[in-house]
Amino acid sequence: MPSVEKDTQPQTSLRVAASGDLEVSTYLEIAREKRGEQAVPQAPPSEVREAVVVLDFGSQYSMLIARRVRECRVYCELVPHDAPPERVAALKPRGFILSGGPASIYEPGAPQIPSYVLESRLPVLGICYGMQALAHQLGGKVEPGSHREYGHALLHRSAQDSPLFAGLPTSFPVWMSHGDQVTTLPLGFKPLAHTDNSPVAVMGNEQGLIGLQFHPEVAHTPSGKDILQNFLYHICGCRGAWTPSNFIALELERIRGQVGTGQVICALSGGVDSSVVATLIHQAIGDQLTCVFVNNGLLRREEAERTLNVFQRNLRMNVLYVEATERFLAALAGVTDPEEKRRRIGGEFIRVFEAEAAKLGRVDFLAQGTLYPDVIESVSSVSKASAKIKTHHNVGGLPAHMTLTLIEPLRHLFKDEVRQVGLALGLPEEMVHRQPFPGPGLAIRIIGEVTKEKLELLRAADWIVMNEVKKANYYNQLWQSFAVLTPVRTVGVMGDFRTYGYAVAIRAVTSEDAMTADWAHLPYDLLGRISTRIVNEVPGINRVVYDITSKPPGTIEWE
Ligand code: XMP
Repeated sequence: MPSVEKDTQPQTSLRVAASGDLEVSTYLEIAREKRGEQAVPQAPPSEVREAVVVLDFGSQYSMLIARRVRECRVYCELVPHDAPPERVAALKPRGFILSGGPASIYEPGAPQIPSYVLESRLPVLGICYGMQALAHQLGGKVEPGSHREYGHALLHRSAQDSPLFAGLPTSFPVWMSHGDQVTTLPLGFKPLAHTDNSPVAVMGNEQGLIGLQFHPEVAHTPSGKDILQNFLYHICGCRGAWTPSNFIALELERIRGQVGTGQVICALSGGVDSSVVATLIHQAIGDQLTCVFVNNGLLRREEAERTLNVFQRNLRMNVLYVEATERFLAALAGVTDPEEKRRRIGGEFIRVFEAEAAKLGRVDFLAQGTLYPDVIESVSSVSKASAKIKTHHNVGGLPAHMTLTLIEPLRHLFKDEVRQVGLALGLPEEMVHRQPFPGPGLAIRIIGEVTKEKLELLRAADWIVMNEVKKANYYNQLWQSFAVLTPVRTVGVMGDFRTYGYAVAIRAVTSEDAMTADWAHLPYDLLGRISTRIVNEVPGINRVVYDITSKPPGTIEWE
């Protein structure tokens, strides 16, 4: 393969906040924010007995810690370090992980480990700032290092044995990022490992309180996941019960209990999240679920047919197909501003969705594909900052009169987990591993006004990009790959004739979460095939360029 760089929920009666996007459905949160409400704290499925709590002290990697713990099949939640103790207690944790953070523990006002953690007698793993806070609060000493240690380091285990290192060699590479360091251990603690620059790179005591100066959660610490797993399994006593099939079994029961004989409506986009939500709910309550698939005319080639094929024909779900191309195109006529496009598409979607819901008569619940990263209240929420760059979630004019209870079966899951659940539910691999597609669709990949003709050009070019990328086995390695139709027209020559056509840009990026992305170093011959085919097969396009901008400073979509 080629490689490229890469319980019961409280029922919340809400206005319907539907949008064209069910891929990354934070619109609910935005709606709450608009109304000045806090995110509704939700208990996890009550049957999950093995939970670990990650306390967030503001590290940029806090969410990553939570993901890694889930990868070890242990349920965890990321909560702010100053979250109400009863909220943490409700999770019945078997242990705590303290994240890193930007503060210095010896400075006034530095965030502290809450007393309930230290009094719990449960295992605690402090990472970086978390370790320093443990040392400081338990009577040890933390001081500024002579210089910042940043990057790779070789960790040497001490003679002390610890279940934390089960299965690991005596020395292994780790990744450091700290200015302060532990200089005096608290009473009862022993040094468990050191690096050249950190005499105490790992410390621990008999009660299962452990500190790591390095970051096990980042990919640069290759044994990091083993260390986390050792902590979870050997020190907290977890067994790894958080599996897709357990989740599905719990969730089916919960949905049945919540819905009873009620009717559920769900906007189906064909994306991973809405597909998994619809399939899960359908398995729970069958025909009490109606899905609405809106063809806004801004989809990729064959997208609508493919989605209907899976859900209507194969899975035999109630899917209302709404052909609304003309409505959306009329709403977009003359619009060039990207945010205005999003606003109009979002507004139009709500009107169409509402009209369909009204035709159904009784509807009690709205199912949404909200994911855990959308509801997480993190001290260092990067996503909050990015929302100012683009409105990803089209929350134009929510209808005030429509009140439905929300069902959000994925609100405790990360995207990777959603994919695993999708596969366990029997959804086609191709659908589960589909690259994300934005709610406003091709409208934000046509720079300037969206017209039928331009949509046809872009669809044809985009089809070629997708096919060639798939043929070359790059599709699953790329976060996204697509074509953008620029408004630039350039002169070309084909045969003996002058052409004057549009320039198309190819965008292909690798990314973990779309917050940052690298332009993909696709091989020239693949780019060459894409270019030749587009220019030959799509009349009206006579030039192809490749976008080599990463994010930041660029964004993934051009608009
Ligand atoms: P940007 O362009 O901000 O995109 O780097 C990051 C990710 O979000 C997707 N995206 C959107 N998704 N509605 C969506 O549902 C939108 O308006 C929207 N804008 C961007 C984009 O495809 C990428 O995955």
